[in-house]
Amino acid sequence: MNILILGGGGREHALAWAIRQNPKCDRLIVAPGNAGIAGVAECADLDVLSRAAVLEFAQENAIDFVIIGPEAPLAAGVSDALRDAGFLVFGPSQAAAQLEASKTFTKEICDACAAPTAAWARFTDAAAARDYVTAQGAPIVVKADGLAAGKGVTVAETVEQAHAAIDDIFDGAFGDMSVVIEEFMDGEEASFFILSDGTDCLAIGTAQDHKRVGDGDTGPNTGGMGAYSPAPVLTQAIQDQVMDRIVRPTIAEMARRGTPFQGVLYAGLMIADGQARLVEYNVRFGDPECQVLMMRLGGQVLDLLLACAEGRLADTPVIWADDHALTVVMAAEGYPGAYAKGTVIGGLQALPETSFQMTFHAGTADRDGAVVATGGRVLACTGRGATLTDAHQRAYALVDAIDWPQGFCRRDIGWRAL
Ligand code: AMP
Ligand code: GLY
Repeated sequence: MNILILGGGGREHALAWAIRQNPKCDRLIVAPGNAGIAGVAECADLDVLSRAAVLEFAQENAIDFVIIGPEAPLAAGVSDALRDAGFLVFGPSQAAAQLEASKTFTKEICDACAAPTAAWARFTDAAAARDYVTAQGAPIVVKADGLAAGKGVTVAETVEQAHAAIDDIFDGAFGDMSVVIEEFMDGEEASFFILSDGTDCLAIGTAQDHKRVGDGDTGPNTGGMGAYSPAPVLTQAIQDQVMDRIVRPTIAEMARRGTPFQGVLYAGLMIADGQARLVEYNVRFGDPECQVLMMRLGGQVLDLLLACAEGRLADTPVIWADDHALTVVMAAEGYPGAYAKGTVIGGLQALPETSFQMTFHAGTADRDGAVVATGGRVLACTGRGATLTDAHQRAYALVDAIDWPQGFCRRDIGWRAL
Protein backbone atom coordinates (compact mmCIF):
# COMPACT_ATOMS: atom_id res chain seq x y z
CA MET A 1 0.00 0.00 0.00
CA ASN A 2 0.95 3.65 -0.51
CA ILE A 3 1.32 5.44 2.79
CA LEU A 4 1.58 9.16 3.53
CA ILE A 5 2.82 10.40 6.91
CA LEU A 6 2.31 14.09 7.75
CA GLY A 7 5.06 15.73 9.81
CA GLY A 8 8.79 16.19 9.82
CA GLY A 9 10.16 15.57 13.29
CA GLY A 10 11.72 12.78 15.30
CA ARG A 11 8.27 11.30 15.90
CA GLU A 12 7.63 10.99 12.18
CA HIS A 13 11.11 9.59 11.51
CA ALA A 14 10.43 6.88 14.11
CA LEU A 15 6.99 6.14 12.63
CA ALA A 16 8.45 5.94 9.12
CA TRP A 17 11.32 3.72 10.27
CA ALA A 18 8.92 1.24 11.92
CA ILE A 19 6.31 1.27 9.14
CA ARG A 20 8.96 0.75 6.48
CA GLN A 21 9.78 -2.62 8.10
CA ASN A 22 6.27 -3.93 7.46
CA PRO A 23 5.89 -5.82 4.15
CA LYS A 24 2.47 -4.21 3.58
CA CYS A 25 4.24 -0.91 2.99
CA ASP A 26 5.04 -0.41 -0.71
CA ARG A 27 5.52 3.32 -1.10
CA LEU A 28 6.16 5.61 1.85
CA ILE A 29 6.02 9.39 1.60
CA VAL A 30 6.59 11.77 4.51
CA ALA A 31 5.64 15.43 4.20
CA PRO A 32 7.61 17.52 4.76
CA GLY A 33 10.11 15.02 6.23
CA ASN A 34 13.74 15.87 7.01
CA ALA A 35 17.28 14.74 6.19
CA GLY A 36 17.00 11.57 8.30
CA ILE A 37 13.55 10.64 7.04
CA ALA A 38 14.91 10.89 3.49
CA GLY A 39 16.90 7.73 4.29
CA VAL A 40 13.76 5.63 4.84
CA ALA A 41 11.06 7.37 2.77
CA GLU A 42 10.41 9.86 0.01
CA CYS A 43 10.04 13.39 1.34
CA ALA A 44 7.47 15.76 -0.18
CA ASP A 45 7.19 19.48 0.16
CA LEU A 46 3.61 20.00 1.24
CA ASP A 47 1.69 22.47 3.42
CA VAL A 48 0.35 19.93 5.92
CA LEU A 49 -1.99 22.51 7.47
CA SER A 50 -3.85 23.03 4.21
CA ARG A 51 -6.78 20.62 3.80
CA ALA A 52 -6.90 21.28 0.07
CA ALA A 53 -3.18 20.76 -0.48
CA VAL A 54 -3.09 17.49 1.49
CA LEU A 55 -6.21 16.16 -0.24
CA GLU A 56 -4.88 16.97 -3.69
CA PHE A 57 -1.54 15.37 -2.89
CA ALA A 58 -3.19 12.19 -1.57
CA GLN A 59 -5.34 11.92 -4.70
CA GLU A 60 -2.46 12.55 -7.10
CA ASN A 61 -0.25 9.96 -5.41
CA ALA A 62 -2.91 7.23 -5.03
CA ILE A 63 -2.40 7.16 -1.26
CA ASP A 64 -4.12 4.29 0.57
CA PHE A 65 -3.46 5.36 4.15
CA VAL A 66 -2.63 8.71 5.74
CA ILE A 67 -1.01 8.92 9.19
CA ILE A 68 -1.09 12.32 10.84
CA GLY A 69 1.85 12.91 13.21
CA PRO A 70 1.56 16.37 14.80
CA GLU A 71 -1.40 18.06 16.47
CA ALA A 72 -1.56 21.14 14.22
CA PRO A 73 -3.02 19.39 11.13
CA LEU A 74 -5.45 17.53 13.42
CA ALA A 75 -6.60 20.78 15.00
CA ALA A 76 -6.91 22.21 11.46
CA GLY A 77 -9.31 19.42 10.43
CA VAL A 78 -7.05 17.76 7.85
CA SER A 79 -8.26 14.31 8.95
CA ASP A 80 -11.90 15.32 8.36
CA ALA A 81 -11.17 16.56 4.85
CA LEU A 82 -9.37 13.32 3.99
CA ARG A 83 -12.05 11.07 5.52
CA ASP A 84 -14.85 12.98 3.79
CA ALA A 85 -13.07 12.26 0.51
CA GLY A 86 -12.93 8.54 1.30
CA PHE A 87 -9.34 8.19 2.50
CA LEU A 88 -8.33 5.86 5.31
CA VAL A 89 -6.79 8.07 8.01
CA PHE A 90 -5.04 7.54 11.34
CA GLY A 91 -5.76 10.54 13.56
CA PRO A 92 -8.79 12.10 15.23
CA SER A 93 -11.32 14.50 13.74
CA GLN A 94 -11.06 18.20 14.47
CA ALA A 95 -13.90 17.83 16.98
CA ALA A 96 -12.17 14.97 18.82
CA ALA A 97 -8.80 16.78 18.72
CA GLN A 98 -10.39 19.20 21.23
CA LEU A 99 -9.13 16.74 23.84
CA GLU A 100 -5.72 18.33 23.29
CA ALA A 101 -6.61 21.75 21.93
CA SER A 102 -8.87 22.79 24.82
CA LYS A 103 -8.14 22.30 28.51
CA THR A 104 -11.74 23.21 29.36
CA PHE A 105 -13.11 20.61 26.95
CA THR A 106 -11.01 17.86 28.55
CA LYS A 107 -12.00 18.91 32.05
CA GLU A 108 -15.68 18.84 31.08
CA ILE A 109 -15.26 15.35 29.62
CA CYS A 110 -13.58 14.23 32.86
CA ASP A 111 -16.42 15.68 34.90
CA ALA A 112 -19.03 14.03 32.66
CA CYS A 113 -17.48 10.57 33.08
CA ALA A 114 -16.11 11.00 36.64
CA ALA A 115 -12.50 10.45 35.56
CA PRO A 116 -10.07 11.36 38.35
CA THR A 117 -8.21 14.61 37.64
CA ALA A 118 -7.26 17.82 39.48
CA ALA A 119 -10.10 20.05 40.73
CA TRP A 120 -10.47 23.04 38.40
CA ALA A 121 -12.19 26.31 37.63
CA ARG A 122 -12.26 28.47 34.48
CA PHE A 123 -12.20 32.26 34.31
CA THR A 124 -12.54 34.78 31.53
CA ASP A 125 -11.41 37.76 33.57
CA ALA A 126 -8.26 38.37 35.55
CA ALA A 127 -9.80 39.77 38.74
CA ALA A 128 -12.01 36.73 39.36
CA ALA A 129 -9.11 34.37 38.62
CA ARG A 130 -6.83 36.27 41.02
CA ASP A 131 -9.45 36.19 43.78
CA TYR A 132 -9.91 32.44 43.31
CA VAL A 133 -6.15 31.84 43.59
CA THR A 134 -5.97 34.01 46.72
CA ALA A 135 -8.75 31.94 48.28
CA GLN A 136 -7.22 28.59 47.28
CA GLY A 137 -3.60 29.35 48.19
CA ALA A 138 -0.45 27.86 46.64
CA PRO A 139 0.94 25.66 45.17
CA ILE A 140 -1.56 25.99 42.35
CA VAL A 141 -1.50 25.56 38.57
CA VAL A 142 -2.42 28.25 36.03
CA LYS A 143 -3.10 27.25 32.42
CA ALA A 144 -3.85 29.33 29.34
CA ASP A 145 -6.78 27.59 27.66
CA GLY A 146 -5.71 26.75 24.14
CA LEU A 147 -2.77 25.35 22.22
CA ALA A 148 0.25 27.23 23.55
CA ALA A 149 2.98 24.82 22.44
CA GLY A 150 3.36 23.53 25.99
CA LYS A 151 4.26 27.01 27.17
CA GLY A 152 0.93 28.02 28.63
CA VAL A 153 1.23 26.20 31.96
CA THR A 154 2.60 27.66 35.20
CA VAL A 155 3.01 25.49 38.26
CA ALA A 156 3.03 28.35 40.78
CA GLU A 157 4.70 27.84 44.13
CA THR A 158 3.32 31.09 45.52
CA VAL A 159 0.11 33.07 45.14
CA GLU A 160 2.18 35.96 43.70
CA GLN A 161 3.57 33.71 40.94
CA ALA A 162 0.05 32.53 40.12
CA HIS A 163 -1.20 36.13 39.97
CA ALA A 164 1.66 37.06 37.63
CA ALA A 165 0.84 34.10 35.36
CA ILE A 166 -2.82 35.14 35.24
CA ASP A 167 -1.86 38.71 34.35
CA ASP A 168 0.43 37.42 31.57
CA ILE A 169 -2.37 35.42 30.02
CA PHE A 170 -4.86 38.29 30.10
CA ASP A 171 -2.20 40.69 28.79
CA GLY A 172 -2.39 38.64 25.62
CA ALA A 173 0.87 36.70 25.97
CA PHE A 174 -0.89 33.76 24.30
CA GLY A 175 -3.51 35.59 22.27
CA ASP A 176 -7.15 35.89 23.28
CA MET A 177 -7.64 33.28 25.97
CA SER A 178 -9.33 32.23 29.13
CA VAL A 179 -7.57 30.68 32.08
CA VAL A 180 -8.01 27.34 33.82
CA ILE A 181 -6.85 27.18 37.44
CA GLU A 182 -6.12 23.71 38.77
CA GLU A 183 -5.38 22.05 42.05
CA PHE A 184 -1.67 21.13 42.23
CA MET A 185 -1.16 17.36 42.04
CA ASP A 186 1.93 15.88 43.61
CA GLY A 187 3.40 12.56 42.49
CA GLU A 188 5.32 10.93 39.66
CA GLU A 189 4.38 11.72 36.07
CA ALA A 190 4.18 9.14 33.31
CA SER A 191 2.66 8.82 29.86
CA PHE A 192 0.32 6.09 28.65
CA PHE A 193 -0.43 5.50 24.95
CA ILE A 194 -3.73 3.97 23.90
CA LEU A 195 -5.12 3.41 20.43
CA SER A 196 -8.87 3.84 20.00
CA ASP A 197 -10.99 3.17 16.93
CA GLY A 198 -13.85 5.16 18.43
CA THR A 199 -15.27 2.22 20.36
CA ASP A 200 -12.53 -0.17 21.44
CA CYS A 201 -9.19 0.63 23.05
CA LEU A 202 -5.78 -1.00 22.92
CA ALA A 203 -2.94 0.02 25.23
CA ILE A 204 0.31 0.08 23.28
CA GLY A 205 2.90 1.27 25.75
CA THR A 206 4.10 3.54 28.53
CA ALA A 207 6.92 6.06 28.74
CA GLN A 208 8.43 8.73 30.91
CA ASP A 209 10.06 11.85 29.58
CA HIS A 210 12.36 14.57 30.87
CA LYS A 211 10.87 18.00 30.30
CA ARG A 212 13.55 20.21 31.88
CA VAL A 213 16.54 21.20 29.79
CA GLY A 214 19.26 20.49 32.37
CA ASP A 215 20.69 17.51 34.23
CA GLY A 216 18.94 16.77 37.52
CA ASP A 217 15.65 18.10 36.04
CA THR A 218 16.80 21.73 36.29
CA GLY A 219 16.29 24.75 34.05
CA PRO A 220 13.38 25.72 31.82
CA ASN A 221 10.82 23.35 30.33
CA THR A 222 11.28 21.97 26.83
CA GLY A 223 9.33 19.74 24.47
CA GLY A 224 11.24 16.81 26.03
CA MET A 225 14.97 16.11 26.30
CA GLY A 226 14.70 12.34 26.41
CA ALA A 227 12.39 9.46 27.25
CA TYR A 228 12.33 5.80 28.11
CA SER A 229 9.84 2.97 27.85
CA PRO A 230 8.37 1.20 29.73
CA ALA A 231 7.64 3.52 32.67
CA PRO A 232 8.10 1.42 35.83
CA VAL A 233 5.58 3.54 37.76
CA LEU A 234 2.81 2.49 35.35
CA THR A 235 2.47 -1.04 36.68
CA GLN A 236 -0.10 -3.37 35.13
CA ALA A 237 -2.43 -2.66 38.06
CA ILE A 238 -2.21 1.11 37.49
CA GLN A 239 -2.65 0.66 33.72
CA ASP A 240 -5.81 -1.40 34.35
CA GLN A 241 -7.08 1.28 36.72
CA VAL A 242 -6.41 4.02 34.14
CA MET A 243 -8.16 2.06 31.38
CA ASP A 244 -11.22 1.46 33.60
CA ARG A 245 -11.56 4.86 35.25
CA ILE A 246 -10.12 7.31 32.72
CA VAL A 247 -9.55 6.03 29.18
CA ARG A 248 -12.61 3.85 28.46
CA PRO A 249 -15.00 6.36 30.09
CA THR A 250 -13.46 9.15 27.98
CA ILE A 251 -13.81 7.16 24.76
CA ALA A 252 -17.41 6.28 25.66
CA GLU A 253 -18.25 9.91 26.45
CA MET A 254 -16.72 11.09 23.16
CA ALA A 255 -18.81 8.53 21.26
CA ARG A 256 -21.94 9.49 23.22
CA ARG A 257 -21.43 13.12 22.13
CA GLY A 258 -21.25 12.06 18.50
CA THR A 259 -17.54 12.90 18.21
CA PRO A 260 -15.86 9.48 18.52
CA PHE A 261 -12.11 9.55 19.07
CA GLN A 262 -10.04 7.60 16.54
CA GLY A 263 -6.29 7.71 16.81
CA VAL A 264 -3.76 7.58 19.61
CA LEU A 265 -4.70 8.98 22.97
CA TYR A 266 -1.66 10.06 24.95
CA ALA A 267 -2.67 10.29 28.59
CA GLY A 268 -0.37 12.33 30.81
CA LEU A 269 -0.85 10.92 34.31
CA MET A 270 0.15 11.82 37.85
CA ILE A 271 0.64 8.79 40.08
CA ALA A 272 0.65 8.96 43.87
CA ASP A 273 -0.24 6.37 46.52
CA GLY A 274 -1.19 3.76 43.93
CA GLN A 275 -3.74 6.08 42.30
CA ALA A 276 -3.46 7.74 38.90
CA ARG A 277 -5.08 11.02 37.95
CA LEU A 278 -5.21 12.64 34.52
CA VAL A 279 -2.97 15.66 33.95
CA GLU A 280 -3.81 16.13 30.28
CA TYR A 281 -4.57 14.38 27.02
CA ASN A 282 -2.73 14.73 23.76
CA VAL A 283 -4.26 13.36 20.58
CA ARG A 284 -1.02 12.24 18.89
CA PHE A 285 2.15 10.41 19.78
CA GLY A 286 4.56 12.27 22.05
CA ASP A 287 7.89 13.46 20.74
CA PRO A 288 10.35 11.94 21.85
CA GLU A 289 8.10 9.29 23.47
CA CYS A 290 7.18 7.99 20.02
CA GLN A 291 10.82 7.17 19.32
CA VAL A 292 11.05 4.72 22.24
CA LEU A 293 7.62 3.22 21.49
CA MET A 294 8.45 2.63 17.81
CA MET A 295 11.80 1.14 18.72
CA ARG A 296 9.99 -1.43 20.87
CA LEU A 297 7.00 -2.11 18.59
CA GLY A 298 8.81 -2.23 15.23
CA GLY A 299 7.00 -3.20 12.02
CA GLN A 300 3.74 -4.33 13.72
CA VAL A 301 2.97 -0.62 14.19
CA LEU A 302 1.50 -0.44 10.69
CA ASP A 303 -0.89 -3.31 11.48
CA LEU A 304 -1.92 -1.58 14.70
CA LEU A 305 -2.52 1.80 13.07
CA LEU A 306 -4.47 0.16 10.23
CA ALA A 307 -6.64 -1.79 12.69
CA CYS A 308 -7.28 1.47 14.52
CA ALA A 309 -8.28 3.35 11.36
CA GLU A 310 -10.43 0.46 10.11
CA GLY A 311 -12.28 -0.05 13.42
CA ARG A 312 -10.82 -3.52 14.08
CA LEU A 313 -9.07 -2.97 17.42
CA ALA A 314 -11.34 -5.45 19.24
CA ASP A 315 -9.58 -8.36 17.47
CA THR A 316 -6.08 -6.90 17.30
CA PRO A 317 -3.31 -8.01 19.63
CA VAL A 318 -0.08 -6.18 20.47
CA ILE A 319 2.98 -8.37 20.55
CA TRP A 320 5.02 -7.26 23.53
CA ALA A 321 8.71 -7.86 23.81
CA ASP A 322 10.20 -7.86 27.27
CA ASP A 323 12.55 -5.04 26.33
CA HIS A 324 13.43 -1.43 27.13
CA ALA A 325 14.18 1.60 24.99
CA LEU A 326 15.70 4.97 25.84
CA THR A 327 16.20 8.06 23.73
CA VAL A 328 18.48 11.04 24.30
CA VAL A 329 17.63 14.29 22.53
CA MET A 330 20.49 16.34 21.13
CA ALA A 331 19.52 19.98 20.92
CA ALA A 332 21.11 23.13 19.53
CA GLU A 333 23.06 25.10 22.14
CA GLY A 334 20.73 27.76 23.57
CA TYR A 335 17.52 25.71 23.24
CA PRO A 336 14.80 26.26 24.54
CA GLY A 337 15.87 29.90 24.14
CA ALA A 338 17.45 31.35 21.00
CA TYR A 339 19.77 29.01 19.10
CA ALA A 340 21.78 29.01 15.88
CA LYS A 341 20.50 27.22 12.79
CA GLY A 342 22.54 25.70 9.99
CA THR A 343 25.40 24.25 12.06
CA VAL A 344 26.93 21.13 10.51
CA ILE A 345 26.53 17.74 12.22
CA GLY A 346 29.28 15.22 11.56
CA GLY A 347 29.67 11.53 12.23
CA LEU A 348 26.13 10.51 11.28
CA GLN A 349 27.09 8.36 8.28
CA ALA A 350 29.11 5.92 10.37
CA LEU A 351 26.40 5.31 12.99
CA PRO A 352 24.81 1.86 13.24
CA GLU A 353 21.16 1.68 12.17
CA THR A 354 19.71 -1.47 13.68
CA SER A 355 16.75 -2.61 15.77
CA PHE A 356 18.95 -1.83 18.80
CA GLN A 357 20.32 1.58 17.82
CA MET A 358 18.72 4.32 15.73
CA THR A 359 19.39 8.01 15.46
CA PHE A 360 16.09 9.68 14.62
CA HIS A 361 16.22 13.13 13.08
CA ALA A 362 13.98 15.82 14.55
CA GLY A 363 15.24 19.03 12.98
CA THR A 364 17.73 18.48 10.17
CA ALA A 365 18.15 19.28 6.49
CA ASP A 366 20.56 18.25 3.79
CA ARG A 367 22.72 21.18 2.59
CA ASP A 368 25.09 20.31 -0.25
CA GLY A 369 25.55 16.80 1.08
CA ALA A 370 26.05 17.86 4.70
CA VAL A 371 23.45 17.38 7.43
CA VAL A 372 22.70 20.68 9.18
CA ALA A 373 20.59 21.48 12.23
CA THR A 374 17.35 23.34 11.48
CA GLY A 375 15.54 23.26 14.82
CA GLY A 376 15.96 23.36 18.58
CA ARG A 377 15.62 19.65 19.15
CA VAL A 378 17.68 18.09 16.38
CA LEU A 379 18.40 14.38 16.95
CA ALA A 380 16.98 11.60 19.13
CA CYS A 381 19.66 8.96 19.78
CA THR A 382 17.74 5.84 20.65
CA GLY A 383 18.84 2.52 22.11
CA ARG A 384 16.96 -0.70 22.85
CA GLY A 385 17.99 -3.69 24.94
CA ALA A 386 16.94 -6.39 27.37
CA THR A 387 17.44 -3.96 30.25
CA LEU A 388 17.17 -0.20 30.61
CA THR A 389 20.91 -0.15 31.32
CA ASP A 390 21.62 -1.77 27.92
CA ALA A 391 19.30 0.69 26.18
CA HIS A 392 20.96 3.60 28.01
CA GLN A 393 24.44 2.48 27.06
CA ARG A 394 23.46 2.03 23.39
CA ALA A 395 21.77 5.45 23.21
CA TYR A 396 24.73 7.30 24.73
CA ALA A 397 27.16 5.39 22.47
CA LEU A 398 25.37 7.07 19.54
CA VAL A 399 25.53 10.48 21.24
CA ASP A 400 29.25 10.08 21.83
CA ALA A 401 29.93 9.15 18.19
CA ILE A 402 28.26 12.32 16.86
CA ASP A 403 30.49 15.27 16.08
CA TRP A 404 28.41 18.38 16.66
CA PRO A 405 30.18 21.05 18.72
CA GLN A 406 27.10 23.34 18.68
CA GLY A 407 24.85 20.64 20.15
CA PHE A 408 24.22 19.43 23.68
CA CYS A 409 22.21 16.82 25.54
CA ARG A 410 21.33 15.76 29.06
CA ARG A 411 23.64 13.09 30.44
CA ASP A 412 21.13 11.68 32.93
CA ILE A 413 18.19 10.45 30.83
CA GLY A 414 16.47 7.59 32.63
CA TRP A 415 18.02 8.34 36.04
CA ARG A 416 14.81 7.74 37.92
CA ALA A 417 14.47 4.20 36.59
CA LEU A 418 18.12 3.14 36.29
P1 AMP B 1 -0.01 20.30 30.53
O1 AMP B 1 0.33 21.15 29.36
O2 AMP B 1 -1.41 20.44 31.02
O3 AMP B 1 0.42 18.89 30.35
O4 AMP B 1 0.97 20.75 31.70
C1 AMP B 1 2.37 20.73 31.52
C2 AMP B 1 3.03 20.17 32.74
O5 AMP B 1 2.67 20.93 33.89
C3 AMP B 1 2.63 18.75 33.08
O6 AMP B 1 3.35 17.82 32.37
C4 AMP B 1 2.90 18.72 34.57
O7 AMP B 1 4.28 18.50 34.82
C5 AMP B 1 2.54 20.08 35.02
N1 AMP B 1 1.16 20.13 35.51
C6 AMP B 1 0.06 20.42 34.78
N2 AMP B 1 -1.06 20.37 35.53
C7 AMP B 1 -0.66 20.04 36.78
C8 AMP B 1 -1.34 19.84 38.03
N3 AMP B 1 -2.67 20.01 38.14
N4 AMP B 1 -0.59 19.50 39.10
C9 AMP B 1 0.75 19.36 39.00
N5 AMP B 1 1.45 19.54 37.86
C10 AMP B 1 0.76 19.88 36.76
N1 GLY C 1 7.13 15.13 24.86
C1 GLY C 1 5.92 15.79 25.11
C2 GLY C 1 5.00 15.92 23.97
O1 GLY C 1 5.16 15.38 22.90
O2 GLY C 1 3.99 16.60 24.15
